[in-house]
Amino acid sequence: MKLIVDTDTASDDAVALLLAARDRSAELEAVTTVAGNVPLRQATRNALLTLEVAGMDGVPVFEGCDRPMVRPLSTAQPVHGDDGMGDLGLPGPARHPHAGHAVDVLLDRAHARPGEYTLVTLGPLTNLAAALLRDRDLLGRYQQVYCMAGAPDAVGNISATAEFNVWADPEAAHVVLAAADPGRVTWIGWDVSRRDAVMTPADQERLSALDSPLAGFTHRINRKVTEWAARVTGLSGYDLPDPVAMAVALRPGLVAERETAHVRIALGDEARGQTMVDRRLTGPPPNVTLVRRVHEKSFKDLLFGLLAPEEAR
Ligand code: BDR
Ligand code: CA
Repeated sequence: MKLIVDTDTASDDAVALLLAARDRSAELEAVTTVAGNVPLRQATRNALLTLEVAGMDGVPVFEGCDRPMVRPLSTAQPVHGDDGMGDLGLPGPARHPHAGHAVDVLLDRAHARPGEYTLVTLGPLTNLAAALLRDRDLLGRYQQVYCMAGAPDAVGNISATAEFNVWADPEAAHVVLAAADPGRVTWIGWDVSRRDAVMTPADQERLSALDSPLAGFTHRINRKVTEWAARVTGLSGYDLPDPVAMAVALRPGLVAERETAHVRIALGDEARGQTMVDRRLTGPPPNVTLVRRVHEKSFKDLLFGLLAPEEAR
């Protein structure tokens, strides 16, 4: 599978990138970055460094939009750390991003090889929406598009009802949904990771026991998120929204429950970014496939398998 990943790289995005880098079924062709969890430059640095850690420093990284379409940028640094990677004082990456804009890359790659690329988005949908403004049919030029986006039960993580990626740039999510169809576009909401992908203390021990550089990196960069979760939510363990979305793209068989539905996004200030699932019998036709559950054990086996030392794989 030829893969392009669009990411506001912070801790869980980085883990998702490691999965894409290590999975033998994926050919990671390009990474595009967007402002979200952290400002754009930092997201780019984090993507470059993560690829370096994974031994994939040949994969080109292209910078994209440095702010949402309409709203000011509002980052998630209190959750992921000022640098998005747990404030560990990590070294800077050895290389720079490639010349060229992420939006051009999303357009040009899909035009050059229609139906061949799979796109996974892990951040606000700004780059993809900007590309769609230039080519309304772009989604159909990808084999599949997977988005970590939304909170279809209206239980949010950035507001009472909204998930961060959609809340950060609701207009972009709106543009994507307006062009989507359920045969092409799959949304994996934040609820899936809360239900089926929490790294419990036992999972964290299993991760440490792997004793591999990638497992160690994963553990360290999620330190801040773990502390934040314990302090603010009282939960022990952290969830992995972006790795779940990546895992679904790599192994669609991990999905335990899905529905096709018409989804739209609240753009007004009070309910900003709320995912509204229209299940009326008389409602508009479905525009996405919504993943509701994944098989937790299979997801974790995939995660630990891909983070294991090379010789154990
Ligand atoms: C999403 O928001 C970000 O903080 C995570 O990286 C993930 O993409 C979860 O709501
Ligand atoms: Ca993300």
